[in-house]
Amino acid sequence: MHGAVQEAKHVFLKMGFDHAYAKAGQPDELHILEIGFGTGLNAILTLIHAENLKLKLNYEGIEAYPVAAEEIKQLNYIELLKAEEYTSVFEKMHSVDWEKYAAINSQFNLKKRQQTFETISDQEKYDLIYFDAFGARVQPELWGEPIFEKMHAALKAGGVLVTYAAKGSVRRAMQAVGFTVERLPGPPGKREMLRATKN
Ligand SMILES: C[S@@+](CC[C@H](N)C(=O)[O-])C[C@H]1O[C@@H](n2cnc3c(N)ncnc32)[C@H](O)[C@@H]1O
Repeated sequence: MHGAVQEAKHVFLKMGFDHAYAKAGQPDELHILEIGFGTGLNAILTLIHAENLKLKLNYEGIEAYPVAAEEIKQLNYIELLKAEEYTSVFEKMHSVDWEKYAAINSQFNLKKRQQTFETISDQEKYDLIYFDAFGARVQPELWGEPIFEKMHAALKAGGVLVTYAAKGSVRRAMQAVGFTVERLPGPPGKREMLRATKN
């Protein structure tokens, strides 16, 4: 858990969120797409991280296989994060309906979308993508040109995608669909990660 939080904070918050927010000139609003909503860990970390900014967040999480509410409870995230004041907010993230926007608090709007990554067809909509699919060794089909083409189309010009992955084949697939790709220092224990920018 500690490692997962450290990795999420480094890859998605520091190299992704902070970078995209600064790059967009500290806008009033940011639109984020998460590839793999899973347990909502990245979503709650983002909500907490952004709380002191004057920023409205529109956050869409794609997940084909939603995690049951009972399992979420057992994970005990809020206690492990020592973020007890966010208990009800985290519960709300999991109890709101899928497929439509819900205000989680005055700042954070969440839309959970149950669909496969392969069926995403958004166009020029997002400032930032958290690409958090299972690794290429487990699901190689999620790390090739067809998926990154969809990610490229879904981003606004200047938009950014971050992922914990650092493989050469992943970087080349991103470049092949038009991204400019940076290799950045990875989280503790991992040498590198990738950040892709739509020109
Ligand atoms: C690494 S986990 C995401 C973790 C998540 N970001 C979190 O904060 O808990 C990857 C997620 O992708 C989902 N997934 C796997 N294949 C998928 C597919 N083809 N389409 C949509 N979701 C998929 C899995 O169910 C899993 O929840």
